Amino acid sequence: MGVFHSTGGQDPAGHEQVVFCQDRHTGLKAIIGIYSTALGPALGGTRFYPYPSEEAALSDVLDLSRGMAYKNALAGLDLGGGKGVIWGDPELGKSEALLRAYGRFVQSLNGRYYTACDVGTYVADMDVIARETRFVTGRSVEHGGAGDSSVLTAWGVFQGMRAAAEHVWGSPTLAGRRVGVAGLGKVGKHLTAHLLDDGASVVATDVNESALRWARETYPQVDLVADTAALIAADIDVYAPCALGGALDDDTVATLRAKVVTGGANNQLAHPGIDKMLADRGILYTPDYVVNAGGVIQVADEIEGFNFERAKLRATRIFDTTREILRLADAEGVPPAAAADRLAERRMAEVGRLRTIHLS
Ligand SMILES: NC(=O)c1ccc[n+]([C@@H]2O[C@H](COP(=O)([O-])OP(=O)(O)OC[C@H]3O[C@@H](n4cnc5c(N)ncnc54)[C@H](O)[C@@H]3O)[C@@H](O)[C@H]2O)c1
Repeated sequence: MGVFHSTGGQDPAGHEQVVFCQDRHTGLKAIIGIYSTALGPALGGTRFYPYPSEEAALSDVLDLSRGMAYKNALAGLDLGGGKGVIWGDPELGKSEALLRAYGRFVQSLNGRYYTACDVGTYVADMDVIARETRFVTGRSVEHGGAGDSSVLTAWGVFQGMRAAAEHVWGSPTLAGRRVGVAGLGKVGKHLTAHLLDDGASVVATDVNESALRWARETYPQVDLVADTAALIAADIDVYAPCALGGALDDDTVATLRAKVVTGGANNQLAHPGIDKMLADRGILYTPDYVVNAGGVIQVADEIEGFNFERAKLRATRIFDTTREILRLADAEGVPPAAAADRLAERRMAEVGRLRTIHLS
C-alpha cells in the first residue's frame, strides 16, 4: 500500500496515528486510524469494504475514527476514537488467515486500538480476530462477548427519542405519538418493540421482503408503507431513520411532516447545512452519534467482562445526555449537532488534560 502523506489535511487537531497494514499472502490491505486516545484506548469497528481506491479507504477511516472519538466521549466511556478499514470485498476476500493477519496488526498496537464489528464484519469474524489479539470486542456470547450490539443501540435510540419528546411535547414518552421507522433491520425491529410497548403507533417501511414479513407476522398493528418517500409524507410525529446514511437530504427535510427526527442510522445528515435547515423548519434533530451509541456502549462493556445490566444502565443515560444537548443547543442558540460536538470536545479536553498530572 502507499504511504500516508498527511494526517487529516483539513482537520487542525489531526489524527494521532494512522497505520497501513499489508500481508501479501492473504491479500490483506488495511488501515487503522487512531484519532484520539485522550480518554483511553481508541475503540471503533472494522469496516470491510471494496473501496474504489486507497484514497477512498483512507478518507473513510479518517472520518470514521474521528466520529468514534466524539461518540465514545459523549457515551461517557473511558475510550478514545479509532476505526479500521479492510480494503476488499467481504464476500470474496474474507478468510480465516486474512482476519487473523489483521488481528496480529491490531495486537501490534498493544492496546492503543480495540476493534469491533462494522459494515462487512460480524460477531463470528471478531471471534477469529480474537485468536490473534486481546484487543477485540463484539465477540460472540460463547466467547465471553456482548453479542449483537443492535439490542442496546435500539434501547439508546428509544431513550434519545424520549428526551426529544419531553423537549417538544413536555413529557418523556411516545405514548399517543405516531413514529415512522425507515428500515426494519436489527435496530429498527428492536426499536419498534420499544415504541409499541410505550404506547406509540408505528408506521414503517423496508426494501427487504423478509423484514416486511417479520412486521406483518410479529406486529400486525404496524402500518407498512411502500417506501421512505411515503413514510416522510405520512402524518407522523417522529421520523426514525434506521436504514442507511444520508437519510436527511434537502428534499426530505423540505417535505418531512414530523416534529422530531431520532433514529439509529449513522451519518443521517446528507451535508453539513442540513441541521440548520431542520432547525429552520422547527424540526428537532437528535444527533445520530449521540442516540445510537448504545451499540458501542454494549461492546465497550466487554472490555471489563460483559455485564448486560451494567451496559443497559449506561445506554439508558443516553436520555440524560440528549436532554443536556438539547438544553445546551437552546441556551447557545445552535443546532443540537453543534451542541453535541461542543460537549464531546469539552469532555475530551477536560478529562484528557488530567493525564498531565504526573503519577509515579
Ligand atoms: N447494529 C448496531 O448496533 C448499530 C449501531 C450504531 C449504528 N447503527 C446504524 O443503524 C443502521 C441500521 O443498522 P442495523 O444493524 O439495523 O442494519 P441492518 O442491515 O440489520 O438493517 C438495515 C435495514 O434497512 C433496510 N433498508 C435498506 N435500504 C432501505 C431503504 N432505502 N428504505 C427502507 N429500508 C431500507 C434493510 O433492508 C434492512 O432491513 C445503520 O445505519 C447502522 O450503521 C447500527
